[in-house]
Amino acid sequence: MTKILVTGGAGFIGSNFVRLLLERGGTEVVNLDALTYAGNLENLSEIEGEPGYTFVRGDIRDVGAMDAVFAAHRPEVVVHFAAESHVDRSVLDATEFVQTNVVGTQVLLDVSRRHGVGRFVHVSTDEVYGSLGPTGRFTEDSPLQPNSPYSASKTASDLLVRAAYHTHGQDVVTTRCSNNYGPYQFPEKLIPLMIANALEGKELPVYGDGKNVRDWIHVRDHCEAVAEVMARGRSGEVYNIGGDSERENLHVVREILRLAGRGEELIRYVKDRPGHDRRYAIDPTRMRDELGWRPKETFESGLEATFGWYVAQREWWERVRSGAYRDYYERQYGGRADA
Ligand code: NAD
Ligand code: DAU
Repeated sequence: MTKILVTGGAGFIGSNFVRLLLERGGTEVVNLDALTYAGNLENLSEIEGEPGYTFVRGDIRDVGAMDAVFAAHRPEVVVHFAAESHVDRSVLDATEFVQTNVVGTQVLLDVSRRHGVGRFVHVSTDEVYGSLGPTGRFTEDSPLQPNSPYSASKTASDLLVRAAYHTHGQDVVTTRCSNNYGPYQFPEKLIPLMIANALEGKELPVYGDGKNVRDWIHVRDHCEAVAEVMARGRSGEVYNIGGDSERENLHVVREILRLAGRGEELIRYVKDRPGHDRRYAIDPTRMRDELGWRPKETFESGLEATFGWYVAQREWWERVRSGAYRDYYERQYGGRADA
């Protein structure tokens, strides 16, 4: 049994990854998460108490706490998802982004080295490459040109991971994925926000002209790709992960309105995001040729399934929107989740 410590396992992608590992078996999973506003243990309530799964509440910025967690659990592998992840929040205030994404990543690298962790998988983003024009795709060799405080902090963390490989010989590997969607995504991101608003008959706020392009991937495909990289990725390498599904934001919004049986009068064009990247597109050739990975879900079927999930799990996102999900931690573990 390999012992894997997953940071940020109570978030959107992390909770889907923890579920994937437990479904596959053969690993023990320690889920380490600070439970910020984005961390929700209700995402994993059905696996609470399962053998081979442990939740530990902890902040990756806290060196002493991380030393204690690594000493107690002795992980062999770290898969690092924990981050402040929302671009708009980083525009309002970048402080937490630098603290968690940059400082927290360095703390984890240092603690991993001190405690003899084997592999360190760093989960990053295509946003480190900046914005594309109408043609071309990001390869692993594209220049790093982040444009938002969020993507700048992720780029800094990628470079710290690179330095750990070159300076200390740590076994690190970095993934850079495009936009995820699927179950348990916090309804501040485009797809769950638009689904929830459409279901409630509220306006759908589209930034700028709505013609920005994102390359969508179902979260399950992303998690399977991270598992491949964890198992077989080359040490010191970067792997781009994408779903081959470029879509304009307006197209996505219209599809959601169609699924919800609502009209376009709900679309509301609002002030653009400052520094809004125009287009992202991933070239996933390395993932395909080296690791044999391919996305399984098409955007159309994945969006429909995700829409169905949000219809069926209305209570989940209503509790997220109302903040009631935070009570779960108190009931389950007897303490308060942070703001
Ligand atoms: P999320 O915001 O849903 O979850 C982040 C998790 O990290 C939460 O559970 C939160 O409690 C935890 N966390 C935050 N600060 C912490 C700290 N200081 N200590 C411990 N835990 C902390 O994010 P997500 O969308 O699931 O993204 C996960 C990772 O994947 C991030 O690193 C993000 O940059 C990357 N990524 C996301 C996408 C996407 O489309 N969502 C795409 C590519 C890469
Ligand atoms: O590309 C990977 C990145 O994808 C991840 O690294 C980030 O963690 C993740 O949040 C996501 O970033 P984006 O900024 O692309 O995602 P977001 O869902 O915030 O926005 C998607 C697009 O939709 C973007 O062009 C902005 C637009 N948008 C977003 C919101 C929330 C709107 O038009 N209206 C909105 O209300």
